[in-house]
Amino acid sequence: MKKLAIYPGTFDPITFGHLDVIQRACELFDVVIVAVLENAAKTPLFSKEERVEMIKEAVKSIPNAEVDVFDGLLVEYAKQKGAIAIIRGLRAVSDFEYEFQMALMNRKISDGITTVFLMPHEKYTYLNSSIVRELARLNANVDDFVPEFVAKKLKEKFKKN
Ligand code: PNS
Repeated sequence: MKKLAIYPGTFDPITFGHLDVIQRACELFDVVIVAVLENAAKTPLFSKEERVEMIKEAVKSIPNAEVDVFDGLLVEYAKQKGAIAIIRGLRAVSDFEYEFQMALMNRKISDGITTVFLMPHEKYTYLNSSIVRELARLNANVDDFVPEFVAKKLKEKFKKN
């Protein structure tokens, strides 16, 4: 049976840090579904369609990476997909507390799915989507942090606002 993992997140937008985690996960699992949370409590800058489109473009050269949208409980979605694992990236100790709580709660709700933490390359330790959005909003160059087409989308987004 194929070993399937879910990599969930808001991906607003996808960064090189996310991509690094996806590549690592794809080496460990037969299939990795990058799952975009539809109704995030925080209002995303990009619509779910835009986020999905950017991720699809970013992972198009990784044959065992898929992209999907989910809503509601992550473990329910993971079960429905037949996943054995949830992937999360851990950059620094500051990520740990929130991730630890989420992983333990997910295990409490559904014991059959294991959360696997992967560390992206240390050059991405300081990188997250909100910093990228902030830089782009202030017209700074984000080419080192996101794929070219994402940087372009960010530029367009802030030009309109
Ligand atoms: O990229 P993010 O915003 O850090 O991802 C957070 C995400 C989507 C993984 C988390 O908010 C989530 O799983 N939401 C779905 C609802 C859910 O299952 N909540 C219970 C978590 S213990």
